[in-house]
Amino acid sequence: MGTVKVVIVFESMFGNTSALAGDVMAGLADAGADITLADVATAPRQVLLGCDLVVLAAPTHALTLSRPESRAEAVDKGADPAHAATGLREWLTTLAASLPVTSSRPSIAVFDTRVRKARHLPGSAARSVARTLGKSGFAVVDRTSFYVEGITGPVTPGEHEQARAWGRGLAGLVRPGAPTQGVC
Ligand SMILES: Cc1cc2nc3c(=O)[nH]c(=O)nc-3n(C[C@H](O)[C@H](O)[C@H](O)COP(=O)(O)O)c2cc1C
Repeated sequence: MGTVKVVIVFESMFGNTSALAGDVMAGLADAGADITLADVATAPRQVLLGCDLVVLAAPTHALTLSRPESRAEAVDKGADPAHAATGLREWLTTLAASLPVTSSRPSIAVFDTRVRKARHLPGSAARSVARTLGKSGFAVVDRTSFYVEGITGPVTPGEHEQARAWGRGLAGLVRPGAPTQGVC
């Protein structure tokens, strides 16, 4: 058995999703995976080519993935304007097209962050991503949500540990074997 090669691509306005992506990375490392962490602002789409698993992570904005307007709203609430330029929605629009038809597609896992007190609301960025990529023919092996206490955070107690455990479990859901390319 070879090593499972993973890239985690995250979007984060206030740093909560980014911190949880770090926990997922630690969990995957516990399980022996080889991982690259990439901010959506700088992640090239070709990173996917050599990876067995791509973990996508984003905050839930207005029940789904962020848009330029919702990111501007986050900046109004104190987020770094540098994070407002792009998001996972934009990155995903060209994802399928960027992969050669002949290449084997990596498996996808996705998580979002949501406000704990609003957990009764149906919206989830992770569900939007899973639906979009599922329609494009990707195998979505798992999706989940982690919680924050308010719009700017902090991460709800216990969620860092949950994220690490989730990461640990992900490594067992995919088979290693993608030919080495890109960052993987
Ligand atoms: C414009 C805007 C809309 C939001 N809409 C929702 C929502 O519909 N449901 C929810 O649970 N949280 C919502 N939130 C809270 C975000 O989920 C929260 O800011 C995010 O999880 C924090 O992650 P980050 O620090 O990585 O940006 C919203 C936040 C903003 C700024």
